[in-house]
Amino acid sequence: MVKIETFSVEAWMDQHETGSQFNIAETCCASISIDQLRELSEDKDRPVFDTSRTLTYGAIRGSDALRNNLARLYSAKSANLLPPENIITTPGAIQANYLCAYALVGPGDHVVCHYPTYQSLYEVPKQLGAEVDLWKAKPENNWIPSIEDLKNLIKPNTKLLILNNPNNPTGAILKKSFLQQIIDVAAEHNIAILSDEVYRPIFHSINPLDPEFPPSILSMGYKKVIATGSMSKAYALAGIRVGWIASRDPEIIEKIAEARHYTTISVSQLDEQVAAYALDPNTVHSLLARNIQLAKTNLALLERFVLKNDDACEWVKPLAGTTAFVRFHRDGKAVDSVDFCKKLLEKSGVLFVPGSECFGGEYKGYVRVGFVNHVDIVKAGMDEVTKFVRRNLDDVKLAE
Ligand SMILES: Cc1ncc(COP(=O)(O)O)c(C=O)c1O
Repeated sequence: MVKIETFSVEAWMDQHETGSQFNIAETCCASISIDQLRELSEDKDRPVFDTSRTLTYGAIRGSDALRNNLARLYSAKSANLLPPENIITTPGAIQANYLCAYALVGPGDHVVCHYPTYQSLYEVPKQLGAEVDLWKAKPENNWIPSIEDLKNLIKPNTKLLILNNPNNPTGAILKKSFLQQIIDVAAEHNIAILSDEVYRPIFHSINPLDPEFPPSILSMGYKKVIATGSMSKAYALAGIRVGWIASRDPEIIEKIAEARHYTTISVSQLDEQVAAYALDPNTVHSLLARNIQLAKTNLALLERFVLKNDDACEWVKPLAGTTAFVRFHRDGKAVDSVDFCKKLLEKSGVLFVPGSECFGGEYKGYVRVGFVNHVDIVKAGMDEVTKFVRRNLDDVKLAE
């Protein structure tokens, strides 16, 4: 039987999410309803659903409408168009990432995974029998891993390099010239790259005109690349469970499509209709504008908190995505992040995610803050955290 480790961040959210008053742990941009989605559209008379359509399995690899919209978005800033046939849809990015590993790696293969990150990215390849090494990003280097470390991790059987860009939990980004260096290393050893890009394009703190603004891995000119994406985070529609896999290499897409027959058949037609509506040119720009503005407004609230409480916490300010990794300490000594989060929830109703439990034991004192919930929740919640830090930090255990 496959050995399955606890998926700690999902277990934490499952246990605590519904009981919290101020959810500042959530990684989705504040989710919206179908009515709100329609309000954001420039074509409000167009229905979201075609209710006359019979509910067969639908288009097996994903509807044309959805894949065409995705292909257009990936092609916008790229010299080469991405054909819609190079995209297949999945029930969420969690399934997209699972399928990539399921189709591409197994016993005898070696995988390198960017770290810290969402646990399934390195745990699933392990479950499938691959050997996994973690490519560690460190706070002292602004959460950017080193190319030298990457070169040292590569083995003759390294088959897949997994990135998470922008990164959960740190909010760091692998910028354009750095991505090129990664690709140079991968190309030299014929290694495929899977980039989990579910937090694209929530770039709240880097200008799109910046020459280092990171393109999707699909726009870097290397063929053996796969990007996974999702409607959950940047598009505020986690409830429809739509994600996707896109690759520049049709052979990779075929392999994954073969594996997908065993796990998915197709994605819900209803979900895909909502996703296609959201990514339509009439809707996508205002939807993203709403979410990026929300990220900017709330990041300013969070930054004010960090500055005001600089005797108790520190961070590397995130550049993109919906999360920040903040280290809490007492006189410089890291707090026990699980005890901190539990006491904070109990006393203040604020939900954070403990870094040492959910992202790795080495992240002592760290908590993940998911700051793109509604402004009033984040504002009131961070005020509660300030009170907690002033009154209760002395009661929190220190990390061992
Ligand atoms: C990096 C990363 N990938 C994938 C997922 C799963 O997203 P989805 O809701 O699309 O399955 C998450 C969710 O938190 C995530 O953080």
